[in-house]
Amino acid sequence: MFNAARITRFQKEQTPFYFYDTGLLQQTVDACRQASEKHAFHVHYALKANVNNELLRIIRDAGFGADCVSGGEVAKALENGFSADQVVFAGVGKTDQEINFALDADIFCFNVESVQELEVIDDLARKRNKQAQIALRINPNVNANTHEYITTGLEENKFGINSWEFNTVIEKLKTLQHIRCIGLHFHIGSQITDDNAFKSLCVKVNEFRRWFADRGIYFKVLNVGGGLGVDYHQPDRQPVVDFASYFSIFDQFLEREPGQEVHFELGRALVAQCGSLITRVLYIKKGINTNFAVVDAGMTELIRPALYHAYHRIENISRPEEGNTQKYDVVGPICESSDCFGKEVELPETHRGDLLAIRTAGAYGEVMTSSYNLRPKIRPLFL
Ligand code: LLP
Repeated sequence: MFNAARITRFQKEQTPFYFYDTGLLQQTVDACRQASEKHAFHVHYALKANVNNELLRIIRDAGFGADCVSGGEVAKALENGFSADQVVFAGVGKTDQEINFALDADIFCFNVESVQELEVIDDLARKRNKQAQIALRINPNVNANTHEYITTGLEENKFGINSWEFNTVIEKLKTLQHIRCIGLHFHIGSQITDDNAFKSLCVKVNEFRRWFADRGIYFKVLNVGGGLGVDYHQPDRQPVVDFASYFSIFDQFLEREPGQEVHFELGRALVAQCGSLITRVLYIKKGINTNFAVVDAGMTELIRPALYHAYHRIENISRPEEGNTQKYDVVGPICESSDCFGKEVELPETHRGDLLAIRTAGAYGEVMTSSYNLRPKIRPLFL
């Protein structure tokens, strides 16, 4: 991953920066495309994971659609050449402006999250003399066995329409003239590494699809969302996720009617491993149990450890060969105690000026940066 030539080049660069291995992204995208094509599945890239133009170009060229959660993301997808008829738009709080923008762009589908949203989209489409294609985002009440902040498919979560509202939805759909309901949409959470969660999702989708079919309602599209996890602990063990196994779970367990399409919204699995946050050690300081390595990136550049206690592997890339390790708390410069990338991280004896790579940072890294403490915007570098 980090060879000597690359490290010499990094040494001269202003830190911190995000480093993207576009070759690895290309391999990942190719593997995903091949595995999904085998089953004629449709993949939309979840822009929320990373909106870097360079990465978007590679993903768009692979023929993927775009999964967006704001008007800004819809605009970004279109500006970057994603075709409007492959754009889906989800989110519990779409504003009128965002809906109008997406209607004007003739996007493929709104993933609708409440009964009231159905009425609003219908009304706005009527004023524009259009018909909006929508999918009902269903809350399937499936536990994704992942961090509580990134679990979305439980009844207690704010996402989707719960089963007790289905009869109201059916009645509403009969009266709304400017909406065409083409699908069911689900998303149970993110960083899912337990295949059983996806199997349970399939079982639930089958139940919901049958429930609607029993009432004479059929859908062209079943959208099962994203959520496929990656290996944060050993990023080099299998840098390209096993897409073949993932898609074959759905092929095996998801029942489909003739001609019914299956859609996915993958974010993390496509972009996580191609990105690293590269940061320089500013100070080494003695603590009680460990030393502190104070680095020049903070939670403002990568918030996942502070927000979710997420683990990211940290490597001292200036001393790749050195065997004698010590334990360091790797902390940033922000005035918050949660500004810590890792506790008791084993690193070779580390010195001021060394470069550290914080791995698996391509998804939900650069997009979640902030200017707290008036930090400057971090820049990306590409291979
Ligand atoms: N579709 C919907 C409706 C979603 O809400 C999400 C992610 C995705 C697709 C893509 O999920 P993925 O394949 O990337 O797991 N910031 C958190 C992750 C939040 C995920 C939000 N929704 C993190 O850093 O772990």
